[in-house]
Amino acid sequence: MKVAFFGDIVGKPGRTALEDGIKAARSEGADFIVINGENASGGIGLTPENADQLLKMGADLITTGNHVWNKKEMADRIVSLDRVIRPANYPPGVPGRGFAVVRSNSFRLAVINLQGRVFMGGNDCPFRKADEIIESLSKDADAIIVDFHAEATSEKNALGIYLDGRAAAVVGTHTHVQTADERVLPNGTAYITDVGMCGPVDSVIGMESSTVIPRFLTGMPTKFEVGGGRAMVNAVIIDIDHSTGKSRSIERINYTL
Ligand SMILES: [Fe+2]
Ligand SMILES: [Fe+2]
Repeated sequence: MKVAFFGDIVGKPGRTALEDGIKAARSEGADFIVINGENASGGIGLTPENADQLLKMGADLITTGNHVWNKKEMADRIVSLDRVIRPANYPPGVPGRGFAVVRSNSFRLAVINLQGRVFMGGNDCPFRKADEIIESLSKDADAIIVDFHAEATSEKNALGIYLDGRAAAVVGTHTHVQTADERVLPNGTAYITDVGMCGPVDSVIGMESSTVIPRFLTGMPTKFEVGGGRAMVNAVIIDIDHSTGKSRSIERINYTL
């Protein structure tokens, strides 16, 4: 089974790039398309309307991260959006779900969304939450992939190795910069520290540089805008052995439209 996972979709340029990426992935035989949508609406957050658009484009499931609540309507609507998930290790009482199972023919792929704690918010432990969910899914999924939305490479490395052999893949999101360390770990978990983003290349992680650099120069608040110009597609294609739920390979995709 092939899963194409696309890094954070940034604004309209990201949505346009994603459309190209999904077509290419499907033509290469991808059975599942999973995307991180936390920046899809104006570069920060996700509206239910944009979620719908991304699903119509061919995404099977949308994961998110620390920007999930930036568009206020998402907090009210996420409960009714069964193909949009938010990090599972948010405190009890937070709306939405932290994992979902999607099907292609009879194959059941579970996707778990987790958020890191190093340089991030005060969410619960992603390691213990992963243990708990993976245990609960033992009879309900043929393979599990984890989107670990986190800042620190060390925390992402650690979770990948911690889950080696228990998940088909652990892929990092959030930094918007693709790393070149994709590999299958010794016990069959495909891993990459960060998938990268789908969005404007000539930008500061997707945002127009002239709206970002003044903040570094002056420390004053500035309003970020989504960058323009060329857009790129960042993704990975994971090949999962359907009989074992472990991965055979992970291939990094990185091209500019
Ligand atoms: Fe992001
Ligand atoms: Fe993020």
